[in-house]
Amino acid sequence: MDHFTYKNDELYCENIPVSKITAEVGTPAYIYSAATFRRHVQNYREAFAEMNPLICYSVKGCSNINILKMVADLDTGFDVVSGGELFRVAKAGGDTTKVVYAGVGKTDKEINEAIDANIAYFNVESEAELANLTKIANERKTIVKGALRVNPDVDPKTHRYTTTGKKESKFGVDIERAVAAFQEFGKDEYFKLCAIHLHLGSPINTTDPYVLAIDKALVMIEELRAQGFEIEAIDIGGGFGADYTTGQAPLTADYADVIIPMLRDKGLKLILEPGRSISGNAGIMVGQVVYVKKGGDKNFAILDAGMNDLIRPSLYEAFHFAWPVKVKPQHSLDKRMDPMNLSDLVKTDIVGPICETGDYLALDRNLPAIARGDQLAIFTAGAYGFAMSSQYNSHPRAAEVLVDGDSFKVIRQRESYDDLIAAEMS
Ligand code: LLP
Repeated sequence: MDHFTYKNDELYCENIPVSKITAEVGTPAYIYSAATFRRHVQNYREAFAEMNPLICYSVKGCSNINILKMVADLDTGFDVVSGGELFRVAKAGGDTTKVVYAGVGKTDKEINEAIDANIAYFNVESEAELANLTKIANERKTIVKGALRVNPDVDPKTHRYTTTGKKESKFGVDIERAVAAFQEFGKDEYFKLCAIHLHLGSPINTTDPYVLAIDKALVMIEELRAQGFEIEAIDIGGGFGADYTTGQAPLTADYADVIIPMLRDKGLKLILEPGRSISGNAGIMVGQVVYVKKGGDKNFAILDAGMNDLIRPSLYEAFHFAWPVKVKPQHSLDKRMDPMNLSDLVKTDIVGPICETGDYLALDRNLPAIARGDQLAIFTAGAYGFAMSSQYNSHPRAAEVLVDGDSFKVIRQRESYDDLIAAEMS
């Protein structure tokens, strides 16, 4: 799963004690494991080897340029959703000809930048965008390739905020309208609509939604081909689960086992857009306890990290496993799930310093007794952690650190008070 383990009663990232890193860079800090990133990309390569897919790492989950460099070195493509993400990929030395670009609101500026970068496919989200891409490609007399994002009306059974592939979603084109969209836009000289894109939502902790959606897409592709449209690729999106608790997500091989038989021999290039299944378990966020207090019967551990650093619990009521960086022997563990079958635990809420009642990282957790100065690790924070962080309440953003074997490097320095006002005009 990852390379964060308890050895000698303390948490290590690969070969480095987490406490050694925080002693140097302070808290809050995001700490990533390079070996975990590599292993997860390798899992995709191996599991889907038969299809030789284009693996497009989804940038939005964890977009530090050093992370993108490391992923680019593994010969991946990238899934982007903005001109800014494409800029990051290019700056990281990523191969922009292996980029797929989704997003419902691509501006003309962003579209032109992506054409300049010669990206692989625009993942097109509406008829209006099809019309605009056709216009721009013709004005520029440049071949531009598009994949139509179809909305297969499949319920991925995940949080409503991260459900995308159902009807009445702002994403994609209803599958019933797809053939008409091809009839209108699929025979252009410059804009080549030649692929299908799906993304159902995330995280999706079962394989069934993929099966249902691919099944519907294949029926549609057959019909499109019968009408003379050339369909060369299918992009099945991301959403593959991460282990927020040990064993929660299917293995990459489990997804491959059901997906490959459906797509084998179909004459379609397979594109995947994994995000959290690569970056999620590759990162933790570490905060330090500033105070402990009681409120009624509740015990609170107040950290120097909050929803400004990791918003997922507040926004999606997401579960992130939390455990002290240093533990007593009886609290050393190898599985991450709550409640734990251990002795001397105290039910505790882990909250942040932000002036919002919804500012918490973990509620009602059975934790070893916490004291001021202890450090807590919030696990599976590599995806949509730092990337969604903010300076709310004017807290400078956390440091990011990348561990690789026996060494570590600060890959984003902790912001300063001056950084808070750097872009503000005086
Ligand atoms: N492809 C497309 C078109 C997407 O919209 C997304 C995620 C992905 C791929 C990658 O999904 P992943 O494999 O990382 O699950 N902030 C939320 C998740 C929002 C996901 C948005 N799109 C969270 O913290 O869970």
